[in-house]
Amino acid sequence: FVHQLADPAVGTELLLRSPLQPALVPGQPAPVALYGPGRANSRGLDLAVPEQRAPLLAAVAGAAVPPVAEASAADVAAAMDRLQAGFDAWSTQPVTERAAIVARAGQLLEAQMARFCGLLAAEAGKTLGDAVAEVREAVDFCRYYAQQAAEKLQPIALPGPTGESNALRLHGRGVFVCISPWNFPLAIFAGQVVAALVTGNAVAAKPAEQTPGVAAAFTALLHEAGVPADALALLHGPGETVGAQLVAHPATAGVCFTGSTQVAKLIQRSLAAGDGAIVPLIAETGGLNAMVVDSSALPEQVVDAVVQSAFRSAGQRCSALRLLCLHERIAEPVIAMLQGALAELRLGAAGDVATDVGPVIDAEAHAHLSRAVTRLEASARLLGRTPMEARWAATHIAPVAFEIGAVEDLQQEVFGPVLHVVRWGGDVTALVARINRLGYGLTLGVQTRIDSRALQIAAQARVGNVYINRNMVGAVVGVQPFGGEGLSGTGPKAGGPHYLYRFCAEQTLTINT
Ligand code: SER
Repeated sequence: FVHQLADPAVGTELLLRSPLQPALVPGQPAPVALYGPGRANSRGLDLAVPEQRAPLLAAVAGAAVPPVAEASAADVAAAMDRLQAGFDAWSTQPVTERAAIVARAGQLLEAQMARFCGLLAAEAGKTLGDAVAEVREAVDFCRYYAQQAAEKLQPIALPGPTGESNALRLHGRGVFVCISPWNFPLAIFAGQVVAALVTGNAVAAKPAEQTPGVAAAFTALLHEAGVPADALALLHGPGETVGAQLVAHPATAGVCFTGSTQVAKLIQRSLAAGDGAIVPLIAETGGLNAMVVDSSALPEQVVDAVVQSAFRSAGQRCSALRLLCLHERIAEPVIAMLQGALAELRLGAAGDVATDVGPVIDAEAHAHLSRAVTRLEASARLLGRTPMEARWAATHIAPVAFEIGAVEDLQQEVFGPVLHVVRWGGDVTALVARINRLGYGLTLGVQTRIDSRALQIAAQARVGNVYINRNMVGAVVGVQPFGGEGLSGTGPKAGGPHYLYRFCAEQTLTINT
């Protein structure tokens, strides 16, 4: 974990000590193939360069999250009426115009990178590195979906007998309800809303109660880019009231939800119970994400990937590693190195450039995670834990690893920096079958130097994203389309070439000429 240090001003210790932010080494360019003219992906900032870092730190210091009002039942009803009325005009605009508006929103957002990083640190407790990555992801969603819509949503001419013309056309479904989580309050909010808008839907957006300010700031920016007032409404409030009213509303033509499996099922039930149309649900939920490490793996690479995957963003990613499966012949050296890495991580304030692991989202999450850790302390073997100063005890959870007896001992997602480790031996296919039987299917890491084994595991695993010999978080829009199956969600994959279709209705037009 010792990085070459070119800029001593940027926390010598951070660069020397932190395994979490290796990309901060100055002078190492971002991979050019992904970024640049004509590409959907935005270019990031290098936090190790003082001129790039300074505006972000100033924005973090000055960030003030505006207060937001909760929507009443009457507000929700009025917004749905307005959106129903606005849908026709918005959906009949040429798709290229909607795409241009969405691309413009991406441009505006990129120009306000510092402001949004400040909001993300202030409202969601993001580290500076995570905040930059999140703004970039949101910009990428705007650009990518604009590009995809302009390319893919044009009518398709189809063959037919003489005297008949056939075409397939795609259009918006109506009012789409988008319900987004607090862990990516900008990127997931933007991804959902922009996809639903660019495909011609009017959108009722309900962001997480913990992070309404970021959503409000991005909504204002969408309107500034040209989204009409009656095509997009932002409705703040609890899922139990505002979310439930939106889902049950007779005008709702589709729901896009990211959050827990349990809430996805509640939404599914509510949609099924309605007397009206059959309403589709796009759900992206959690995971019991495993990493399979065989005896040929490189311990240094494994530990680097584990630290990134399990502890970055304080483990508050649906893609995060929860279950590390170490082959018994490699377990001891990996565990020893993992203990060393845990000891080196630094807990710290949100928005601080030297923070590896920031606070968890709120007191409720803190209490929930503390209880999960206490249970593990009683039932599992503690392998290592990051030291925590008393000043962080009420807001942070110290990254921690426990050895548990079997894959099946993990049944519930623990949404924080808590890693479960199991040892395995024998046939890897038996191990992957047990992981599959947990029923989730989001991400899987594989660490092996045997290529054929890596591909065999990938083929057997019932998961949406497989990462071989690297970390398993931070899917890049248009590069690693993201989303799972089973208890992890319905698909389609966000940031992938099939995503937009699910927001559309299709019409076949046959004309006897
Ligand atoms: N898209 C995010 C990631 O890949 C999800 O949490 O990490």
